[in-house]
Order: sequence, then C-alpha cells, then structure tokens
Amino acid sequence: MKKTIYGFLGVATMSILVVSCTSRGNSPGWEYAPDMVYSKAYEAYSQGDSNTINPYGMNMREPVEGTIARDKEDYFYPYENTAEGYEAAKSLNYPANFEDKDGRGKYMYGIYCTPCHGAKGGNDGEVFKPNRLGKPAWANYQDEYIKTLPIGQIYHTLTYGKNNMGSHASVLNPMDRWRVVRYVKELSGGDASVQPAAKDSTMTTTNNTKP
Ligand code: HEC
Repeated sequence: MKKTIYGFLGVATMSILVVSCTSRGNSPGWEYAPDMVYSKAYEAYSQGDSNTINPYGMNMREPVEGTIARDKEDYFYPYENTAEGYEAAKSLNYPANFEDKDGRGKYMYGIYCTPCHGAKGGNDGEVFKPNRLGKPAWANYQDEYIKTLPIGQIYHTLTYGKNNMGSHASVLNPMDRWRVVRYVKELSGGDASVQPAAKDSTMTTTNNTKP
C-alpha cells in the first residue's frame, strides 16, 4: 500500500515538473475549456473580444445623452462655458445639502489653490512669482473684486477655469467646489455666510450634463 502511494506521488511530481516546463515565456500553455474561463457573454466590466454592436467596441453602453448617473446629480451644471453662462452663474447658490464641518474647503484650497493664489489669497504663490505665470489683475483675495464676486461665478470659474486659471472640475467634486468657494469668501473677508438654496433647483432643471 505504502509503495503504491509513493509511486503515485512520484508520478504526480514528475508530471508537474514536465507540465511546468512546457509553458515558457508568454505562452499560456494549454487551457482546459477556455470557454469556461473567457465568458462568451458580454460582461459589463471586462473587454474580451471587441463588441461589434456598441460604439468603440465597448461592452458597456454609453450613457443616454442628457441623463445623469445615480447619485451624481450635483455634477449637473446648467451653464455653458460662455460669457452668458458666466453671467447666468450669478444666480447660483450653495446647494441645499451644503456642509463643511471638517474644514475640507480650507484643506482643498491648500492643495489646489495655494500654488498660485497663496495661503492667504495674496496671489503670492510660487506660480505667480515674477517671470512666471501672469497674475490676476486684482491684487489679492481681500481686494473688493473677490470680496463682492458672486459665489456662483466663483463656482463657474472653478468648473471651467478662466484665462490663465485652469478648470478644477477634475480634482474638486461639486460639493468640494462649493466648500472651496465658501473658504475663498472667508479669506476675502466678504460675506462667508451660507444661505443654501431652499431646493437645489438651479442645478437640476436644464438638460445639460457638462462638468
Ligand atoms: C495656475 C494658477 C492658478 C491656480 C492653481 C488657481 N488659480 Fe484662481 N486664478 C488664476 C488666475 C490667473 C486668475 C485670473 C483669471 C482672469 O480673470 O484672467 C484666477 C482667478 C480666480 C478667481 C476669480 C474668478 C473670477 O470669476 O473672476 C477666483 C475666485 C479664483 N481664481 C479662485 C481659485 C481657487 C479657489 C483655486 C483653487 C481651487 C484657484 N483659483 C486655483 C490662477 C490660478
């Protein structure tokens, strides 16, 4: 009996060694029933063979135009990146569910805004040092311009950027943009109070899914 077991183990070891020698380099070797490994079904999150029906050979479908993903409603921004859009943004208000308990606005400002605008909004960040990027016309955040600038227009500028300032839409989600807006108002010594919109209506009424 013992002999048989040793014999069996010997054969098993040998075959493992032989099999492991056959798969060299990039060759996956023999696959047992690849159909069971690579699904023939269209899997939403994996791209097997190029899909011949959907755009770009994707398995996933593109979202229907004018729709917003669930829980991403606040990404919905009604105004275009135009002079008219900037003007219209004056009417925007903090969203109804606005909160900034943990000082996240200040934290995000520290990361994304200080390189140019400086820690206190003095426009004395590294990037604005002489011979680098052109500074804004206004001297600092305590200038009348920022003090009185409507919060919606700050939000608009964070979303799309303005001249030498780039868009921050990819690094600040909509709620974080509002938190930073409020912190800018605090730095400016202007009105930093928050009177959220009763209902977040401005942000959800039109048919536009821009950032
Ligand atoms: C690359 C440098 C740079 C960074 C980073 C930057 N800004 Fe600016 N920002 C500018 C410049 C330049 C202007 C002036 C734009 C103009 O009016 O020509 C400006 C303008 C502004 C204005 C005035 C907007 C308006 O509507 O007139 C505000 C408010 C502002 N920045 C806030 C921020 C905040 C908050 C951040 C961080 C999220 C930030 N900026 C990051 C360069 C920068």
